[in-house]
Amino acid sequence: MATNRTFTMIKPDAVSNGHIGAILNDITSAGFKIIALKYTQLTEENAGAFYAVHKERPFYGDLVTFMSSGPIIAAILEKDNAVEDFRKLIGATNPAEAAKGTIRKKYAESIEANAVHGSDSDENAEIEGSFFFSQIERF
Ligand code: PPS
Repeated sequence: MATNRTFTMIKPDAVSNGHIGAILNDITSAGFKIIALKYTQLTEENAGAFYAVHKERPFYGDLVTFMSSGPIIAAILEKDNAVEDFRKLIGATNPAEAAKGTIRKKYAESIEANAVHGSDSDENAEIEGSFFFSQIERF
């Protein structure tokens, strides 16, 4: 297992419900080191570009509207086996199917308002991290 990085967002639902502190605490307690952290809000154009890979899926428009509806936290995280371990920590996309104790089980509202994003591969972690952070911010 190599030490590597993943990318996450705390989504608008979890930010507006006051879960930023609890979610960051769960993340660091699970052994992830925060490399970069930003509080920001996506425009519809930004969200559309970030999720362009899902452009043909039926929920794309709703996802873009939701992800640009309020502030988010974006972060790059580091840990051994980061991508896979972070996906385990957050749980299934649909919180109704997420395992007990996972971040989505604890804080998500629905399959759309599902509290957090986690990269699905090392390659996408790099692409997504560089979408939000310049080289000097992710040293
Ligand atoms: S994943 O994590 O990529 O395997 O999950 P996937 O099911 O492919 O979903 C990709 C992202 O789309 C979001 N999603 C939805 N948004 C709105 N409505 C519906 N029905 C819906 N289904 C999936 C899901 O939360 C994923 O967002 P991210 O930010 O990648 O977690």
